Amino acid sequence: MVHHETPGRDLTTEADAPDKEWLERGRLLFAGPCDFVKGVVALSGLPDADRAEVAFAGRSNVGKSSLINALTGRKTLARTSNTPGRTQEINYFRLGPADGENLYVVDLPGYGFAQAPKPMVARWTRLVNGYLKSRPSLLRVFLLIDSRHGPKSADTAVMKDLDTAAVSYQVVLTKADKITGAELSKCIESTGAVMRKHPAAHPEIIATSSVKSAGIDLLRAEIAALAAAP
Ligand code: GTP
Ligand code: MG
Repeated sequence: MVHHETPGRDLTTEADAPDKEWLERGRLLFAGPCDFVKGVVALSGLPDADRAEVAFAGRSNVGKSSLINALTGRKTLARTSNTPGRTQEINYFRLGPADGENLYVVDLPGYGFAQAPKPMVARWTRLVNGYLKSRPSLLRVFLLIDSRHGPKSADTAVMKDLDTAAVSYQVVLTKADKITGAELSKCIESTGAVMRKHPAAHPEIIATSSVKSAGIDLLRAEIAALAAAP
């Protein structure tokens, strides 16, 4: 059984639990430096794909920026907001020392914001699809889904894009503090059923709460393992 950083209900099953070594390596990775590198508004502004990176994608307001802050233990590294559409750029963060081995953590602008004007939606699609296709260094996309709602049509559309681009991705459920344990189990089950239809999807689902810091250690361990893989 995994011991979470904060006491509370266990959000994962034993089968999902990484071993202690990876939890510790994940903790160490995210305890080190993490610095904002740049905000990218056009594909030409992407940094060289000269090191590994992981990206966080998901609907507007799902909690991408909050999750990056929870992972790094820094409240204001990525800008969060109650207003959907807060993050409009591809934001690059460098995890690890600037002069040593490091990887990029990428905060993507959210999609599926119902009130978003059409040009904004078109811009997002162009930028993010272009990004996904041009990053051989992209190890995995963490696709965030609100645990209260489960996957929506905008999410399954992105899954299809990722399948087509053969980009590996994994679902992370967010805001688990807002529902009961039983509701969360149901969401994990129904989301799992959707994921099994998508060839590029990683089968394990990580349930998190940035507010309660639940599941954050598991996600750190997952990223540490990804970064260490040859
Ligand atoms: P965009 O940049 O607009 O795409 O949004 P985002 O996905 O980066 O979401 P953001 O992190 O800005 O969070 C949106 C809202 O959800 C904020 O009001 C957060 O405080 C709230 N929120 C994020 N994570 C959690 C969580 O785990 N639990 C709860 N209760 N609220 C959360
Ligand atoms: Mg954001």
